[in-house]
Amino acid sequence: MAKTKKSETTPKAASEKKGAINKRDEWGILEASYMLSNREISYETWIEECFPPWGQYINYQMEHTVIPSNKTALWWLGGPSWGMKVQDEIFLIDNYAGPSMVTRYENSGDCKSTGADRLHWIRINPQVIDIWHLKRVDALFITHHHADHCDIYTVKALLQTTSAKFVGPKMTVAALRNWGVPDSRIVEVKPGDRVKMKNVDVIVEDNYDMNALKTTVGLPKDAAAKFTMGDAAVSYIFNTKAGNIAFLGDAIYDNAFYGVGQRNKVDVTILDMGHNPSGSNDKLTPYDAYRIGKALNTKVLIPDHYDNWCCTYMPPDELETIVRENSKSMKTVILQVGAMFTYPDDKDIGRYKYPDWQERLDWRKARYTLEKI
Ligand SMILES: [Fe+2]
Repeated sequence: MAKTKKSETTPKAASEKKGAINKRDEWGILEASYMLSNREISYETWIEECFPPWGQYINYQMEHTVIPSNKTALWWLGGPSWGMKVQDEIFLIDNYAGPSMVTRYENSGDCKSTGADRLHWIRINPQVIDIWHLKRVDALFITHHHADHCDIYTVKALLQTTSAKFVGPKMTVAALRNWGVPDSRIVEVKPGDRVKMKNVDVIVEDNYDMNALKTTVGLPKDAAAKFTMGDAAVSYIFNTKAGNIAFLGDAIYDNAFYGVGQRNKVDVTILDMGHNPSGSNDKLTPYDAYRIGKALNTKVLIPDHYDNWCCTYMPPDELETIVRENSKSMKTVILQVGAMFTYPDDKDIGRYKYPDWQERLDWRKARYTLEKI
């Protein structure tokens, strides 16, 4: 597992000044003694104190974890959302900080593809990063313009609090411009492009997401007919010194992924997976996720997006079985929301386990009965 610095595992004392009750520790986690103190509570207090429920724990990790040049750190932020640190550079990919939502037939690809008048996307996963308190983000990479990938809450926060660039294909850029993102902060990309960052080269590749191409929300009327697949959705392959990491957004299986695999060396593939009701082809099935992993000749396959909406939720177990039974060289890694994954250190973990603070427990100080003080 990735090493954490000592300061990350030794929170400050609850009270620095005698008698004073600190509200939060350095991870932004609320002190229990503060929670139990009597005070006025309003709707605003509730939102401020309880949201995001993970405080700034991930923000702190992303900022303070030292990443050597031969390693790359990833954080699964739940659903399609990722954080990445390559040496000192920090990136977000398809970050979604929004709520549950409802999409309508007139402008939603998922509704048009299925014939549903409306679909409710009820959010399951917790919001694990505080997007208003990220001290550094170098770029937000967006695979397509669906609201859960091209997220107005993330974009507007990063616009004001960081100097991040916003990278996306043509239809995404149309949405960004509509939100007032200046051209100086936008990098428009298409398959075949290469985005050079300080420590990483990002290859922009084909993506096959017909639902994105059919989605016209936020775009001028009749504009959709003019757009191509490459205008709607792209894949990103981050070429780092530790290995090459591919993000496939909401890709649907297509033969053309074989070409992506032939043109690129891919070590880690991160792709969507989920349940599809009959008449829907929104998320990759576990077998199609495996097929894409095979087409890309990936070493590690990490599924995402199966966890965050009620209607497409599925447990990830089936993918593990399919990969185990069909491939000797490919490995699955099943993360949990908020997990930090360091490549290559964690490539063999199989399943991520949350920290249980075992290292903090001390039997010498433990009181097993009430008699001994
Ligand atoms: Fe999505």
